[in-house]
Amino acid sequence: MIDVWDPFLRIAHWTLAITVFGAWLTRHSAGRLHEWLGYTALVILIGRVLWGGIGPHHARFSTFVLSAAETMGYARQVLAREEPRHVGHNPLGAWMIVALIIAILLVIATGWLYTTETYWGVEWVARLHDGLSNFLFLLVALHIAGVAYSSLRHRENLVGAMVHGRKRTPAEGDHGQSV
Ligand code: HEM
Ligand code: HEM
Repeated sequence: MIDVWDPFLRIAHWTLAITVFGAWLTRHSAGRLHEWLGYTALVILIGRVLWGGIGPHHARFSTFVLSAAETMGYARQVLAREEPRHVGHNPLGAWMIVALIIAILLVIATGWLYTTETYWGVEWVARLHDGLSNFLFLLVALHIAGVAYSSLRHRENLVGAMVHGRKRTPAEGDHGQSV
């Protein structure tokens, strides 16, 4: 087994999931809990983005966000059911991570906008915030479906790896070649 996901990345992942989900649960509640959960998610997200530049190998965006051509090549391999196993994020999962980060930022930005004096009570801002959060949860559902699919395909527990950080090395047996 090798260490793939460092402690910061794992804590950032689960606290981000909890705060984003918590913000959704508190969407109609009185008080400021909803807003503070959103701002906590923002702090975690900023930390994760910085970590993506300076963190260890598998945390760096440059090691897993590939070009459109490479990602399409991987998607074709998935359709042909011959995609290689990736020890870090796979190229499709990587672009989903980018999409999730952008979607969360947009939800928080529109939520903040609604609290400003100029846009307070403005209907389209509230609708945009609501619509973007629906879109965000569609992405989250696809993200979880992708995790489940990859876990089954390569017979490994990716959720467990996001908890303890370890994955099997290519030498310990791969179902399909490894990258
Ligand atoms: C609001 C909910 C969620 C958000 C915003 C979210 C976001 C993310 C992000 C940003 C990453 C990249 C991790 C990194 O490199 O720092 C990631 C990876 C991952 N997430 Fe989530 N996630 C959510 C919910 C979940 C849930 C509920 C599960 C478990 C079923 C899950 C399982 C995973 C796994 C296994 C990975 C690693 C994928 C891989 O091996 O490449 N996520 N998620
Ligand atoms: C990831 C974080 C967030 C999620 C998922 C989220 C999601 C939602 C959802 C689904 C609603 C209900 C909209 C409706 O039914 O009309 C809502 C309402 C609201 N959110 Fe957020 N939100 C987040 C962050 C924030 C932040 C950071 C702020 C402000 C600083 C904020 C301010 C508000 C306000 C003021 C409302 C009430 C709008 C109204 O009166 O219709 N939200 N949010």
